[in-house]
Amino acid sequence: MRQKIVAGNWKMNKNLQEGLELAKEIDKLVSGLTNDVKVILAPPFTHITEVKKAVGSKISVSSQNCAAEVSGAYTGEVSASMIKSTGAEYAIIGHSERRQYYGETDAILLKKVKLALANGLKPIFCIGEVLEERESGKHFDVVKSQIVNGVFELTAEEFKNVVLAYEPVWAIGTGKTASSDQAQEMHKFIRETVAAKYGQAVADDTSILYGGSCKASNAKELFANPDVDGGLIGGAALVAAEFLGIITAF
Ligand code: PGA
Repeated sequence: MRQKIVAGNWKMNKNLQEGLELAKEIDKLVSGLTNDVKVILAPPFTHITEVKKAVGSKISVSSQNCAAEVSGAYTGEVSASMIKSTGAEYAIIGHSERRQYYGETDAILLKKVKLALANGLKPIFCIGEVLEERESGKHFDVVKSQIVNGVFELTAEEFKNVVLAYEPVWAIGTGKTASSDQAQEMHKFIRETVAAKYGQAVADDTSILYGGSCKASNAKELFANPDVDGGLIGGAALVAAEFLGIITAF
């Protein structure tokens, strides 16, 4: 059975004290739940160690990125091994903001994915088209090529540790959500793409998250789809009650 997941991507928000406050608030709300949803918090690098200490066993911690090199003279970078040493279990890789603003190519992302896995971190690998690509009908091709180039060099054993997150770029932070049908259509396509490469059993076990203006008020409809296994949440993950509303939307 594939895992249901709700992950909060804090992006570059909250200082350490504010972040700890938010993490503790979420932890308190989540500790009372009996559902089988994996909750993940992805704070900035500077907060990971403290956030990890502040939350209980029901919450896992993720980075928002990791370096494409093992170690050495790469000023400002944070390696997968360093992230792992904080107690984090996941690393978001290939977020559209990294692709768009920091020039992260498929080749760089593949290196990051491999390093994350080699260090025992589970990649949350993001894929998704920009508006122009959707409007010109290229969205399936774009997403497929991001998957093929970003993760299909992995063995099936390695791939089993990958979480995929479909985030249409036009829906991120815009208040525009993909419709429930658009999400399901793409998630189904992604699962078929994974099945063609690694087999149906692996595809059936792969968690595919939706991201892009997902909030408590639309999560229920999105998560009701058979191929939507949860969400990667930006803005709505910064308010504990709203985030809880998403966690309990299944
Ligand atoms: P959003 O961001 O929920 O603020 O649209 C989602 C994401 O970028 O992960």
